[in-house]
Amino acid sequence: MKLTEIIEAFNENLSKEYGAILLYIELRKLPLMARNVKTAALISSLAEDEMHHAEMLADRIASLGGESTWQIAPFERKSTVRETLMQIIESEEQAIEDYSYLIERLAGQPKLREMLIAILEDERRHKGRTEELLKSASGRKANP
Ligand SMILES: [Fe+2]
Ligand SMILES: [Fe+2]
Repeated sequence: MKLTEIIEAFNENLSKEYGAILLYIELRKLPLMARNVKTAALISSLAEDEMHHAEMLADRIASLGGESTWQIAPFERKSTVRETLMQIIESEEQAIEDYSYLIERLAGQPKLREMLIAILEDERRHKGRTEELLKSASGRKANP
């Protein structure tokens, strides 16, 4: 990949990471999530992971000589826990796809790959945790 293509791809990922932070903030404030202290703490930790990803990407873009975006990937606001969780699971799946694709394309760039592989591992874990949340929310006969 050319340097400009790498910077462009990282900026696209960065805007999606910003979007992911907002999705978790939205999820956390929904009553069914906010009432459970452990669940709320888990969601905060997932939002912090996304912030850490955003920081890593922005730092890397700067070190490659690029300018990091201030764009936040848009998403439609959902009103129920179920819908919000389904939306988050979809966005985690998209992140897994995006990072896997980039890792493949960056075969000759071990440092960049290493960073993306670490992010990819987090995204896979996020998908697992949010799927568990969806299962337990469905079991509780949710309450929107
Ligand atoms: Fe992320
Ligand atoms: Fe994630």
